[in-house]
Amino acid sequence: MITFESVTKRYADGTVAVDHLDLEAPTGEITVLVGPSGCGKTTSLRMINRMIDASEGRILLDGVPVQGIDPPTLRRGIGYVIQQAGLFPHRKIVDNVATVPYLLGWDRKKARSRAMELLERVGLDPALSQRYPFQLSGGQQQRVGVARALAADPPVLLMDEPFSAVDPIVRTSLQDELLRLQSELNKTIVFVTHDIDEAIKLGDRVAVLRVGGKLAQLADPKTLLAAPADDFVQEFLGHDRGIRRLQFVSTEGLRLRTDLTVPEDSTAASPEPWLLVVTGDGSPVGWRTGEPGGELEPFGTFRHGHDSMRTALDAALLSPSGYAVALDADGKVAGVATRQALDEALAEAADG
Ligand SMILES: Nc1ncnc2c1ncn2[C@@H]1O[C@H](COP(=O)(O)OP(=O)(O)OP(=O)(O)O)[C@@H](O)[C@H]1O
Ligand SMILES: [Mg+2]
Repeated sequence: MITFESVTKRYADGTVAVDHLDLEAPTGEITVLVGPSGCGKTTSLRMINRMIDASEGRILLDGVPVQGIDPPTLRRGIGYVIQQAGLFPHRKIVDNVATVPYLLGWDRKKARSRAMELLERVGLDPALSQRYPFQLSGGQQQRVGVARALAADPPVLLMDEPFSAVDPIVRTSLQDELLRLQSELNKTIVFVTHDIDEAIKLGDRVAVLRVGGKLAQLADPKTLLAAPADDFVQEFLGHDRGIRRLQFVSTEGLRLRTDLTVPEDSTAASPEPWLLVVTGDGSPVGWRTGEPGGELEPFGTFRHGHDSMRTALDAALLSPSGYAVALDADGKVAGVATRQALDEALAEAADG
């Protein structure tokens, strides 16, 4: 656990970058620091590994004040990942990843085999290990940066906007990868971003900072979206707050109709405006409207009880039927969420 106790950072020119910050980053969780540019995120992060020293207050690592630990020792237990990875340009990828093990005096063979193992872990082809950083894409470099930070298996990871320099698709995959890694590694992670969507996706807890380095709110993402502490936080969360909240509303209670599916060869007429054509093994084919044998309309799916209401709503909007197709754990059709059922669930979500 990382604990900030009334931590203040005043730079030499008098700028107060962080002002009496109290914060806990629990062991094994991802704590995200989010806020506008200049609000003191990087400063806060760097005080943890003493790249910057606090002016007042204490930062404790599992109860031990970091100010009492000499920086090289401290940093051995703390991985650090920055934007654009910050790789050493003249070292091969494998040697970049093995940087800390080399510093720790591991023998070269062991350090390199650890590096190879980590490259695989972060989803990189081991063949890339012999290249130099400039021979990798931005997203690949970012993965190498994560691998390097993990090399000596530190319990703590500090990440400062690690994914901001890559395009949205690569960024999404890096975020997914981080969550997957974290589910295996259970590191104590402090993650800095100015992107609220990233904060909500990655954070077990999200600390919203305002300029001047003051904590505006610390909450889990669901609470943050449902109950912003003040106007600043509300504005920072943006206009889609209501829609975003649906990510945290389960589809478990969503009422499904099972009488709206028909087999592919069905010729039966029905008073229903929309019928879902389903294969013999339960896969959806398309929506039938009117007479059998006509052209089928596209459908959208969600996994019942697993995906959120946001996904279900998205599925409904992808089809001219306005209905969402619910799949079970095996990907077979479990039923159909009609507009009425979605409506009821939305009304319930809006209720709180
Ligand atoms: N060495 C320094 N001397 C004086 N002021 C500084 C110094 N480093 C940072 N600051 C100021 O401290 C404040 C916080 O800076 P910091 O880099 O922590 O912000 P940040 O939240 O990480 O911003 P960004 O999102 O733009 O990265 C800013 O006003 C910045 O100008
Ligand atoms: Mg910064």
